[in-house]
Amino acid sequence: MRKLLAMMVLAGGMAFAADGAAIFKSKGCASCHQPNADTVGPSLKKIAQAYAGKKDQLVKFLKGQANPIVDPAKAAIMKAQLTMVKSLPDDQLNALADFILKHK
Ligand code: HEC
Repeated sequence: MRKLLAMMVLAGGMAFAADGAAIFKSKGCASCHQPNADTVGPSLKKIAQAYAGKKDQLVKFLKGQANPIVDPAKAAIMKAQLTMVKSLPDDQLNALADFILKHK
């Protein structure tokens, strides 16, 4: 019985953990960012390489608190998208950053 309860708690916790891939999809980010190819926006791979080892800075960018480093000439297009994510709670922004950084 105790084991079953522990499993239920574990499963419940997983369901509530922030899912970066799901956030990326639900906020429409995927329409401009492909995993490997540059389209309207740079590929996730290119972004992950630019932000390798700089997760804190990526989270800051997503909050609208840091300047772009990947393709500043197109910054205006991306800046408009930040309204979708910049006020998300930290755990969701961390999950989103983890998802992006996985593409390196
Ligand atoms: C309408 C197209 C479009 C959508 C939608 C979009 N982006 Fe972008 N994104 C761009 C463009 C263009 C750039 C290149 C400009 C730049 O580097 O800021 C970019 C750049 C970025 C960068 C690199 C920033 C840097 O340092 O240069 C990140 C991170 C990013 N996007 C994340 C996201 C996330 C997360 C979402 C979903 C909320 C999203 N984008 C939605 C077009 C888009």
